[in-house]
Amino acid sequence: MSAPLFQAVRGMNDILPDEHLYFSFIKKVVRHRCRQAGFRRITTPVMENVELFQRGLGDATDIVEKEMFVFTSNSGKRMALRPEGTAGVVRSYLQNGMQQLPQPVELYYIEPFFRYSRPQKGRFRQFHQFGFEVIGENDPALDAQVIYLAHRINQDLGVADKLQLQINTIGCKECRGAYREALVNYYIGKERSLCGDCKNRLNRNPLRLLDCKVEDCRILASIAPKFENSICDKCKAFHALVLEYLDAFQIPYVKNPQLVRGLDYYTNTVFEFWSRKEGAQNATGGGGRYDGLVELMGGQPTPGVGYAAGIERTIEYMKESGIRAPSKDKVHVFVAQLGLPAKKRAMTLIPKLRELGIYTLGAIGKASMKAQMGLADKFKAQYAIIMGQIEVQEEKAIIRDMTKGSQEIIPYDTVIEVLEKKLGRDKLETHRLWEE
Ligand code: HAM
Repeated sequence: MSAPLFQAVRGMNDILPDEHLYFSFIKKVVRHRCRQAGFRRITTPVMENVELFQRGLGDATDIVEKEMFVFTSNSGKRMALRPEGTAGVVRSYLQNGMQQLPQPVELYYIEPFFRYSRPQKGRFRQFHQFGFEVIGENDPALDAQVIYLAHRINQDLGVADKLQLQINTIGCKECRGAYREALVNYYIGKERSLCGDCKNRLNRNPLRLLDCKVEDCRILASIAPKFENSICDKCKAFHALVLEYLDAFQIPYVKNPQLVRGLDYYTNTVFEFWSRKEGAQNATGGGGRYDGLVELMGGQPTPGVGYAAGIERTIEYMKESGIRAPSKDKVHVFVAQLGLPAKKRAMTLIPKLRELGIYTLGAIGKASMKAQMGLADKFKAQYAIIMGQIEVQEEKAIIRDMTKGSQEIIPYDTVIEVLEKKLGRDKLETHRLWEE
């Protein structure tokens, strides 16, 4: 077979129907849990002015330095495909006067994002995140609530046991400033042992040296000055309360003083969900507090805290854990017919069953009965309703249990009633839920 003429762009994948079962399930869980927690949905454009990300995420971050899809628009403006969601949500918060709303404003999103990084396992150039942001208050209870919501979603998706919450505080601007200085001093004279990236980061973003994955850098980082010696009393107390609330929620966590995250907007709390598996490096999601971001974007000083998870990575964990997404495509009934009168009957019966939330398929073409039953098998229909000329004349229909292979003849006007009973109310309720 020759190669197809066109291929999807490198690092960008089709989401095929089987994969969509997982996407739909995750979206449904996220919508349900977020709504339940009082969050409202927001969608921002896939593209923003590049300065929004440069300013918001930080010029010296990997994402801004080398991972953005940047281009010049027809009118000469520098644009970027959004690499993440927080900067756009904060822009929208300010642009749409959400400061006037009762605070905090709680928003969630489920969207595609774009990063021009080297494609590898769990890393794509177009990927999807669900995320939530709480803007307008800086109570440590909110940090814990955001983490609780993320944990609750992980539980619903069946991956909570596979993941471990890693948490740290990186303090406020003041205490972090003092710590940064201590770090830079520590690394003086050790530059030669650092990897190329860390050498570059040393003056621009020294905190990132702490979570470098290169062996030599990790050894140096493990004996670097600890933030706990620089943290101010206020940030210390704030962090202690976040942990206390997590204990109250009974969410297990690992305190990780080396966790700093790759975005400059964070203050105080930072956290990630990691795989418990040895050697696994990819976090499924991460977040933290960003008390300086709104002001950085030109607003009044306004605190915020949020989280985002990668949908593709979450699906990977679900699959690894043997979790199958429930399929809303489960076919309950296949209606097979032969001859014009039976065909007319099938054409009215099919939409009636669908209205009731019974997932129904039928072959309205000219296929033979054998071919139609073959289709019913192929779609794994639970039941088939079979009607030919005789059944129509006698006001009857044949109902066939496709798994058992048994069948019975029933009066046509009882078809719906019999099907509802055979399928069971609970199955129909589930189906209706999916149809929401
Ligand atoms: P992030 O850690 O950059 O945080 O991304 C969150 C999650 O998105 C990651 O843990 C990962 O699962 C997924 N992800 C990131 N890049 C890729 C990629 N190239 N391919 C596949 N999945 C990826 C943020 O984006 C912050 N905005 C989170 C946040 C919200 N902080 C506060 N509010």
